Amino acid sequence: MSTITNTGFILIVDDNPTNLSVLSEVLSNAGYKFRVAVNGESAILQAERNQPQLILLDVEMPGIDGFETCRRLKANPITQNIPLIFTTALADTNSKVKAFSLGAVDYIPKPFAQEEVLARVRVHLQLKQLTESLEQQVSDISDGLRLRTTALEQAQVQLVQQEKLSTLGELIAGIAHEINNPINFIASNLAPLQEYIRDVTEIIQLYQQEYQPTEKISIAIEDTDLEFVLEDMAKILNSMKCGTDRIKHISGALRTFSRSSGDSIMSADLHQGLDSTLMILQHRLKGKGDFPHIEIIKHYGKLPEVDCYPGQMNQVFMNILANAIDALDEAMIQGKLNACTPKIEITTAMDSAQWIVIQISDNGIGISESHKQHLFEPLFTTKPVGKGTGLGLSIVHQIVVEKHHGILEVDTQPGQGAKFMIKIPVIATTSHHNQRS
Ligand SMILES: Nc1ncnc2c1ncn2[C@@H]1O[C@H](COP(=O)(O)OP(=O)(O)OP(=O)(O)O)[C@@H](O)[C@H]1O
Ligand SMILES: [Mg+2]
Repeated sequence: MSTITNTGFILIVDDNPTNLSVLSEVLSNAGYKFRVAVNGESAILQAERNQPQLILLDVEMPGIDGFETCRRLKANPITQNIPLIFTTALADTNSKVKAFSLGAVDYIPKPFAQEEVLARVRVHLQLKQLTESLEQQVSDISDGLRLRTTALEQAQVQLVQQEKLSTLGELIAGIAHEINNPINFIASNLAPLQEYIRDVTEIIQLYQQEYQPTEKISIAIEDTDLEFVLEDMAKILNSMKCGTDRIKHISGALRTFSRSSGDSIMSADLHQGLDSTLMILQHRLKGKGDFPHIEIIKHYGKLPEVDCYPGQMNQVFMNILANAIDALDEAMIQGKLNACTPKIEITTAMDSAQWIVIQISDNGIGISESHKQHLFEPLFTTKPVGKGTGLGLSIVHQIVVEKHHGILEVDTQPGQGAKFMIKIPVIATTSHHNQRS
């Protein structure tokens, strides 16, 4: 294997002109490029400015000796990896041991035997090349591994997201279906029941007009408080109707949420998605014990229907809103809301560049600068084990940025709440469709 490279050179350090000329001749005859230094200081300066491939270093020199020169070269990050061979007439074991302990790779005794000098130089240049190529390979492998790990992490997040989404979607679809049948049954029977009760009430009133009741009937009427019962029955029926209407509304929202869980692009009303998500989170917005009710303030602008993955957009709303509720709960626990009402504001609009802009802000605990930098990384969470998986926002990021070619931004400061901004383009071009599928 050739050890001659065009760019590399060997630095010979020796104060003795005869030694210098012998070594120079040997090296140049073998085709090596070289430079010379006549003392330790200038050797260090030269090596710093232009790193040689190898240094042949004399031990006994005026000024700093070879050992000190070696120590300084090894202490300097720029020169520490250059292989260094001592050339010396000192043949005692102590000197040799000292040379190696200072980091020299070899030792060439003086007077020089030409073949030995060349053999040792050649071996060490080869070793250096091998080491460098090994280092490069290791670094390539690490880069490859890092890339693969990132890809794996992303695939995992995607899997979890799909799993979360389809499990949630299926569960909700199932519940909506189960609720829907009995509620329809009740709702559809309420109207005839109302009519029958009105008829029966009229007949009773007619009886009362046409007949004098017997004493037994009078007592029964009084015991039952018939007048009140007849009046209240109509009210009860009315409230039952309101109740069933509300359940139908909820089950509609559940179906909107789950229907859109499929993995296909369709045109969707994002306000409907936001509302159905809020409906599902309703139980977390209600006040409980010392916790006040979380106020939802909507500033909905005029939005067209958007070509998107509606189920995934619902997941985006769900993850951001759930985080906002967590941040408000935490602010309440830490007593940081002072006299403020916990609230979430949702603002939607279409900007001048035809992008849908959705802002969701809360007045919760806010996020510190150092946490902000990791917010969208998978598995980043500040919540206790079992409470947060740290996947919420990384999924949001993936859906908004990768799936919808949108923009996701956050504006927050500790103690000042947080505002998440989602921007997605209204017009999904054909190429987007292709990329997204
Ligand atoms: N509105 C917010 N206010 C304050 N901190 C927030 C807010 N939203 C997110 N964070 C911070 O970002 C972290 C990451 O959020 P992310 O939704 O990714 O994970 P998580 O909520 O911890 O767990 P999960 O996977 O269950 O959603 C949270 O742990 C929290 O520290
Ligand atoms: Mg979360």
